[in-house]
Amino acid sequence: MALQGILNADFGKGTINRNIYGHFSEHLGRCIYEGIWVEEDSPIPNVNGIRSDVVEALKQIQIPVLRWPGGCFADEYHWKDGIGASEGRKRMVNTHWGGVVENNHFGTHEFMELCRQLGCEPYINGNVGSGTVQEMSEWVEYMTFGGESPMSELRISNGRQEPWSVTYFGVGNENWGCGGNMRPEYYADLYRRYQTYVRNYDGNKIHRIACGPNAGDYEWMEVLMREAGRFMDAITLHYYTLPTGDWSDKGPATGFGEADWFRTLKSSLFMDELVTRHKTIMDKYDPDKRIDLIVDEWGTWYNVEPGTVPGFLYQQNTMRDALVAGLTFNIFHKHSDRVRMANIAQTVNVLQAVILTEGEKMILTPTYHVFDMYKVHQDSELLELSLDGGTYCFEGSEIPAVSATASKDNVGKIHISLCNLNPMEASLVSLDIRGLAGKSLLVTGKTLTAGKIDAHNTFEQPDNVKPQLFSAFELKDGQLTVTLPPMSVTALELTPEA
Ligand code: AHR
Repeated sequence: MALQGILNADFGKGTINRNIYGHFSEHLGRCIYEGIWVEEDSPIPNVNGIRSDVVEALKQIQIPVLRWPGGCFADEYHWKDGIGASEGRKRMVNTHWGGVVENNHFGTHEFMELCRQLGCEPYINGNVGSGTVQEMSEWVEYMTFGGESPMSELRISNGRQEPWSVTYFGVGNENWGCGGNMRPEYYADLYRRYQTYVRNYDGNKIHRIACGPNAGDYEWMEVLMREAGRFMDAITLHYYTLPTGDWSDKGPATGFGEADWFRTLKSSLFMDELVTRHKTIMDKYDPDKRIDLIVDEWGTWYNVEPGTVPGFLYQQNTMRDALVAGLTFNIFHKHSDRVRMANIAQTVNVLQAVILTEGEKMILTPTYHVFDMYKVHQDSELLELSLDGGTYCFEGSEIPAVSATASKDNVGKIHISLCNLNPMEASLVSLDIRGLAGKSLLVTGKTLTAGKIDAHNTFEQPDNVKPQLFSAFELKDGQLTVTLPPMSVTALELTPEA
């Protein structure tokens, strides 16, 4: 029996902010070094030290915003170590991530150059845990002040005449944990103090972002909103999907069974409850929804690939990750009245990466393909879609079998994204398409699916999992019937014909 739904094409529910498709790149493992930065004299094709294959791939998915330099690294990062001639830059130990030497060759100028090449917005995360107010204040002055001042002169002496435009600035990261192990009351006061000196220079308006809670820490959200809400433009949320829920043994990225598949998707679906409950607290203090909720770390976290450095957090990425990405985007769409940015952890070679590299080789992961298929929703109008998603049951537990959202873009095309969470059975979905005043529609589709739950791409077989044209649908009398393959992410485009 088909799952029944209604799509109201004339019922817009607000804009899906393009920044929901943002990324996060930290000085961690091989994300920045090798994954993005290879130095100018590298045999790997690069522009100003930044590898060109990775830039091209990220431009293809229209990366809107990139968060840097951390993560936990942010609260140990001293930005002045990463400016000036690269041979003179301070070498430090990356204590959080593998104890490796950080040579600071990738610093502020290089990050801004990366954002220029990508055509995306920078999101800089400042240091509260081990940095001073002066240091944070001077970083903002260095980047954004155009007049005469010590920091703008320092920037000019390092080769950059014009200030950069920086909209997003985070005041600390995980200050309840690696960023200083603070209590919410203490951080709320520190936040108020630090943000005072994050100045708006020369018409550059900074969006001040407070460190928000770890997953379901509602107390943290309550205290921050109550004590510091009026001083912030946004607050963050971090939530990772662990198949086992156990940090000491999270489960493997490949070679898992259906029990792990089910638990992983169930754990990802928890994002909906988390966002709903945090929004309720935010609504109490900010009923006009002025403050954004930014989920600036999300994604799967598995045991590292056997034989790799534990502190580098390198993991493979399978069809399961594709489903996690698709259903998480659908959750973010649904909450786009408050969730106005999200940043997957992380862009290259770390956690739920969209790109993996091995020396000069690069592959795109199943998660990358979901970003590509969902980019049509960036800045589109969310549409009302109700669906009885049916259930996918496993060993006495159940989750929805299908997750779906739809939007209308600025030329009037309708995009429907459907995830079939059931890896064993196809799902038949029937949507009543309303609100198009009798216009006929041209429908096209793509799907991402595989024959195995842990299907993934390798450097030897880079195209194992990639989107295919999809035609298992029928539109008749305003009723769109779709057969979703097992374990699939499907994108349909409906073009009203003149
Ligand atoms: O993304 C990896 C780490 O996870 C980040 O550095 C930290 O903020 C979080 O705990």
